[in-house]
Amino acid sequence: MELPRPSKKTNGVGVQVEDTQICVVMVGLPARGKSLIAQKAQRYLRWLSIDAKVFNVGNYRRNDTPHPTAEFFDTTNVEGERMRRAAAKAAVSDMIDWFKKGGLIGILDATNSTRVRRRWIAETMDAHGIETLYVESKCDDEDLIMSNILEVKTTSPDYIGQDPEIAARDFRNRIRNYEKVYQTIDEQESDLTYLKIMDVGKRVIINRIQDYLQSRVVYYLMNLHIKPRSIWLSRHGESEYNLGGQIGGDADLSERGHRYAKLLPELVRKSVGDDRPLTVWTSTLKRTIQTARFLPKDYNQLQWKALDELDSGVCDGMTYAEIKEAYPEDFAARDDDKYNYRYRGGESYRDVVIRLEPIIMELERSEDILIVTHQAVLRCIYAYFMKKDQKLSPWLNVPLHTLIKLTPRAYGTIEEFTSSGIDAVSTWRGQGSVAKHEDPPASANTLGSAGDGGA
Ligand code: F6P
Repeated sequence: MELPRPSKKTNGVGVQVEDTQICVVMVGLPARGKSLIAQKAQRYLRWLSIDAKVFNVGNYRRNDTPHPTAEFFDTTNVEGERMRRAAAKAAVSDMIDWFKKGGLIGILDATNSTRVRRRWIAETMDAHGIETLYVESKCDDEDLIMSNILEVKTTSPDYIGQDPEIAARDFRNRIRNYEKVYQTIDEQESDLTYLKIMDVGKRVIINRIQDYLQSRVVYYLMNLHIKPRSIWLSRHGESEYNLGGQIGGDADLSERGHRYAKLLPELVRKSVGDDRPLTVWTSTLKRTIQTARFLPKDYNQLQWKALDELDSGVCDGMTYAEIKEAYPEDFAARDDDKYNYRYRGGESYRDVVIRLEPIIMELERSEDILIVTHQAVLRCIYAYFMKKDQKLSPWLNVPLHTLIKLTPRAYGTIEEFTSSGIDAVSTWRGQGSVAKHEDPPASANTLGSAGDGGA
């Protein structure tokens, strides 16, 4: 008897994806944070190895009209209308070609502000068996709109080299032209699948979410906020295992590690800039808990199993030299594809990313947080914020005794590093090496190599 084919497939990482492809259609007036939402969604999905790509209609339009004035966006401007429609068609056509090559989630970044335009996208995608998910950002908060206009749009390629004041005025006029025709998604489009985010998450409406992948995207987008905040990351202080070049385990801190733990409150206070308490997350392992133990009592501390170090299975407690000796093929396989290699009875970097997903979700919902964790875990979290690709991230050099501050901004994350000045061994290992403590070469992608305060 032939077994039924499973209706679901995985993307090879344990993330179940349906046999569906989704076109996420951004909707909203200019300066409502659509591009930011689109970029974040792409970054999150790619971090999870889900093939996602943003198609920005403005980029297509800029091929013909690089520096339009507000009049270009007046709907009574026939030539402007024609060119804007052509740009949307070109973006959609490229997206469909990309879907045909196996792309999973295409994100159409444009205003898509009329029902007619949205219906056209739905019908076009439908004809190719692609689902549509509309994500509308509706925001009437003047301060937010203003800061968006100033911070993002005056740096837009549309206004390159222009006086920011004139650019901001023109941009306001552009928005007015859009307002004349803008139709928010309402009951008249109740057959559509959509997420409507009002005033950056203060209120959300979800309609007709149909499958697992859609609900993942929606859940992520619902958790985003744009309040200013930072995330501080630190590895635990140097441990007894680090001294011996052993991996894994649950060792105590070394004498220098304890010194780092004592200094950490001061490093954090200086970096935060005031006395406001942070929330602290550690793993469940002794070395991170010991590192966080001198932080002020009003810092709320939480232990997460998901922040424990990559599980090295049968190799736990061994040195790299011992692993190469006992499991030469595994050692070579890990060097060959460090992101995907799974220790016998343990984990791969890919596995760690999957178990970190709830952490990322919670981080997106939260404000200021300090995370004290481990080398591999920190590499994965850093890769999410800094868009590091999977080939590179497992080889990043994350020095011990260094505080990292990440501040997400509209277009990228700002990073700052503070070295404690307390020596520690290096736990970085280059491809092929079995050295206990190897000095990373300049090419090793060392976090914070720009020095204190460097970005
Ligand atoms: O050596 C410290 C450590 O945190 C180990 O516990 C862990 O197995 C290792 O780093 C992860 O780094 P890599 O993936 O480079 O071996």
